[in-house]
Amino acid sequence: MKVAFLGMGVMGAPMAGHLAAAGHDVTVYNRTAARAETWTKAHSGKSAATPAEASRSAAIVFACVGNDDDVRSVVYGDDGAFAGMEPGAILVDHTTASAALARELGDAAKGRGFEFLDAPVSGGQAGAENGQLTVMVGGESSTFETAKPVIDHFAKACTLMGPAGSGQLTKMVNQICIAGLVQALSEGLNFAQKAGLDGERVLDVISKGAAQSWQMENRGSTMLRGEFEFGFAVDWMRKDLSIVLDEARRNGARVPVTAVVDQFYAAIQARGGNRWDTSSLIELLRDKS
Ligand SMILES: NC(=O)c1ccc[n+]([C@@H]2O[C@H](COP(=O)([O-])OP(=O)(O)OC[C@H]3O[C@@H](n4cnc5c(N)ncnc54)[C@H](OP(=O)(O)O)[C@@H]3O)[C@@H](O)[C@H]2O)c1
Repeated sequence: MKVAFLGMGVMGAPMAGHLAAAGHDVTVYNRTAARAETWTKAHSGKSAATPAEASRSAAIVFACVGNDDDVRSVVYGDDGAFAGMEPGAILVDHTTASAALARELGDAAKGRGFEFLDAPVSGGQAGAENGQLTVMVGGESSTFETAKPVIDHFAKACTLMGPAGSGQLTKMVNQICIAGLVQALSEGLNFAQKAGLDGERVLDVISKGAAQSWQMENRGSTMLRGEFEFGFAVDWMRKDLSIVLDEARRNGARVPVTAVVDQFYAAIQARGGNRWDTSSLIELLRDKS
């Protein structure tokens, strides 16, 4: 299938790589051209100078950029994806963005004869590289059925959640569940160290019981060692939590712990930890001499 991929970041580049490896005819676009060149050197595929050019005659156009405005800037305008797409083509947005943007793009696509799916992902850089992402999708079921076999090249799970925006709403649930959990894990591990226990042995035993989690399995040891220069950046988490808090204000859901954890992440940013992994919450509990 002829496809385009917009955004060769930490997530987009390996996702596009899986599509090329599966034999699809991939054209990539990246705002900073050097990253697109790096991708074409490593994979069979082409790069284009604008989103419109990359999207020309593509059956599916994938995007994975930063936030709502970044998505708008690669989709709208003379150089945007919509200017290059042909009727019947599908735009799949993997960016973590607002549900309002997803509904806006769903309507805008329909008005131009295109299809749209919001399809945020979970699983991080490792999930993108290993082709093991979880994909939460909003849109129409006929569109989903066409896109799913292609998305499956980089996904271990890909589920249609409802109409446009439902993928983003599901990703918000995902981020709410992570925020409170990482704070609890930080408090538990800091407590273990204060109590004079061997942190690694604590992790080894409790990870086999009811406290087990992805964060415990994948971040527990690095939290004990104070290593945070990798993973899912605090800046991205704050962007995601701001989307969550906006949506909760709209739908009336109470998210008191999420709101507090968002402020803890603000404190990490104030310490210069903008690019630290989200597990860096434990740093706020450490004694500083
Ligand atoms: N990293 C993770 O673990 C993870 C996990 C799940 C979801 N996500 C979500 O996935 C999305 C991408 O994350 P990432 O880690 O891949 O980010 P990243 O490495 O910072 O890459 C962002 C990409 O978006 C492009 N971009 C940003 N603003 C743009 C604009 N205004 N116009 C055109 N291109 C623009 C960047 O182009 P340049 O190269 O020119 O800057 C880059 O290709 C985000 O929404 C993030 O929340 C990330």
